[in-house]
Amino acid sequence: MTTTIRYDRGADGIVTLTLDDPDQSANTMNRAYAASMSAVLDRLEAEREELTGVIVTSAKPTFFAGGDLPEMIRATRADAPALAELLGTIKRDLRRLETLGRPVVAAVNGSALGGGLEIALACHHRIALDAPDSRLGLPEVTLGLLPGAGGVTRTVRMLGLAGALTTVLLTGRRMRPADALATGIVDEVVATPTEMLDHARAWIAANPHPTQPWDRPDYRMPGGTPASRSLAAQLPAFPATLRKQLKGARLPAPEAILAAAVEGAQVDLETALTVETRHLIGLLTGQVAKNMIGAFFFDLKAVNGGAARPSGVDVPPVRRVAVLGAGMMGAGIAYACASAGLDVVVRDVSPEAAGRAREHAERLLARRVRKGRATEADARAVLARITTTDQVDALAGCDAVIEAVFEDPALKQAVFAEVLPVLAPGALIASNTSTLPITGLATGVDRPADFIGMHFFSPVDRMPLLEIVVGEQTGDAALARAFDLGRRIGKTPIVVNDGRGFFTSRVIGRFIDEAVGMVAEGVPAASVEQAALQAGYPTGPLALADEVSLTLIQRIRRQFEAASEEYLPLPAHRLVDELVDAYDRPGRAGGRGFYSYDDGTRGRLWPGLIDLATDAGRAVPFTDLQERMLFAEALDALRCLDEGVLRTETDANIGSIFGIGFPAWTGGVIRYVRQYAGGPAGFAARATELAERYGDRFTPPADLVDRLAARPAEPAVA
Ligand code: NAI
Repeated sequence: MTTTIRYDRGADGIVTLTLDDPDQSANTMNRAYAASMSAVLDRLEAEREELTGVIVTSAKPTFFAGGDLPEMIRATRADAPALAELLGTIKRDLRRLETLGRPVVAAVNGSALGGGLEIALACHHRIALDAPDSRLGLPEVTLGLLPGAGGVTRTVRMLGLAGALTTVLLTGRRMRPADALATGIVDEVVATPTEMLDHARAWIAANPHPTQPWDRPDYRMPGGTPASRSLAAQLPAFPATLRKQLKGARLPAPEAILAAAVEGAQVDLETALTVETRHLIGLLTGQVAKNMIGAFFFDLKAVNGGAARPSGVDVPPVRRVAVLGAGMMGAGIAYACASAGLDVVVRDVSPEAAGRAREHAERLLARRVRKGRATEADARAVLARITTTDQVDALAGCDAVIEAVFEDPALKQAVFAEVLPVLAPGALIASNTSTLPITGLATGVDRPADFIGMHFFSPVDRMPLLEIVVGEQTGDAALARAFDLGRRIGKTPIVVNDGRGFFTSRVIGRFIDEAVGMVAEGVPAASVEQAALQAGYPTGPLALADEVSLTLIQRIRRQFEAASEEYLPLPAHRLVDELVDAYDRPGRAGGRGFYSYDDGTRGRLWPGLIDLATDAGRAVPFTDLQERMLFAEALDALRCLDEGVLRTETDANIGSIFGIGFPAWTGGVIRYVRQYAGGPAGFAARATELAERYGDRFTPPADLVDRLAARPAEPAVA
């Protein structure tokens, strides 16, 4: 088997172990690693008397990535014994390393996430290089997993149960080296690789016989073990706090992490390591980890890697962006562009209105400076790239325009007509419309091939998704430029075809309609909100509707009604109309909607809702409440695939999680259909049942099972 670890012994008796898997761009905890580490430990033990210490470092730009995800995603119950054995070997060798009797220092030259940090935790001392992209942490929870190479066991012993759970294990936070130092998972941060190795050697010289804290006779777990009275009194609050953090969602990974940490804290280290393995295998052989690895690793990599970008289309990069409209979206887009090093000119109707884009950037930059994420000089440089104006001429020379004025087709066409003549020849023309078909908007410009939708999400600085919308006449060059621009400003760009509401706005509409419809039927509003949160949605649909504003929901629906022959009136529409027109409850911005808002904070659900229901107090099984929302979105996403609005399942999965809050545990809206108990056939059977109970909108596409079978689940797992 390939050797993934180089062994070099210097004249000073220090062995440098260089992690360097020749077959991969990053080191992972695959079988070759396990075999290499066993061989290394045999040799270290054999040569122990001649050694003064060990430095573990890497030849890759990153220190070490995590587990072997392609193997993990395929794991079945039948693989459990083999996986347990592999994990046992990996843990045994890390244990041999920390009990070698010689100082072992991790020289963490780049990111150490998951398995990489677990290797470092088995060293006596950790020195992190302050590389700009370097991140340290145990992000397993974000993939539905737990750190199973000693990560739970050692962080609990290092930081205590509460500390390890809240700062490292349950958040999965990827920390910059300075944050890792503050948390206590590394001991030093240095500026240069030379300094890193010098410090490692110095530490070895100063600490000839170190042991891990937990191997010392006087070791006490920080904060006490569950057997100690003080911690025992707090323990019952742990699961309750976790449930609160998860807003009631039942997710297997956080629960398993909590269990492994608490159980492991009550037993000796070796037993704790075994407990950790068993919990990990439970997760690995379950469905949720597969869903999450599929989406958050493989799908995300495919999307960001350019799967949807036309290949071989060489286009000049955008350098100077015109943003039209300095409202919430325009200001956010301008900040994102300037932060990525692009020059931006923002135009609004008056200098004051345009100036809001600069104020927005100033606010965000001040926060970054306060948090130590940027220097004053960085902030000044970003601001210097933003020009605000009410003059068309100021946009001269921009090689892209992104329009974010009010959602009004006539206004949008008018502003394009006004500015296009002054832009650089061939400039990319983009609209941030959230619902208006791109093909229609493009009729107002003389270069429809350069016209495209670039639909950002609010707040732009925090939402990673960009939905690129290809109109009927949009050319490949425009798509390639929009894609490259999206990547340049750090977004995850999915690419969809045109249609009213495209993919994201359309499908989230089904979620809101279904939820509001249930309230209209007479299901208590609080039950609807709870059902969604417990299903894993990040926000309740009624709170979301208030946020979007009921007036806007009403307006979008009326536009759709006017434009479409297939418009179906739903109970939700009646309720929204009554709330807006008869009860003056327009949503959050207006101070009241489904909820009341006092001083801007969300208060109680409005008790009057029940009087507007057709069948007050109607009892609907809780699972039905949840699945009506999940299925409403999934069925519409399937229709988007059929109609060609969606080009790939990958884009659907990523877009649904990152754009519209589809529950992350599902791995995305189409994966939800594939992973449903019984597969697509099970999904279709359940949809039929929902159709019988709640209406035809749940009738599954006739040949759903065959059609999904004919499409391979994408992307292929390497
Ligand atoms: P907004 O109301 O906050 O901002 C619109 C801005 O456009 C205002 O500053 C207004 O003065 C300016 N404006 C109006 N006429 C103009 C003209 N002739 N020239 C230059 N500027 C002009 O609206 P928001 O929320 O920023 O939305 C803008 C666009 O983005 C809309 O098309 C909306 O559908 C879309 N969108 C909104 C999202 C949201 O969450 N609010 C999400 C994604 C897209």
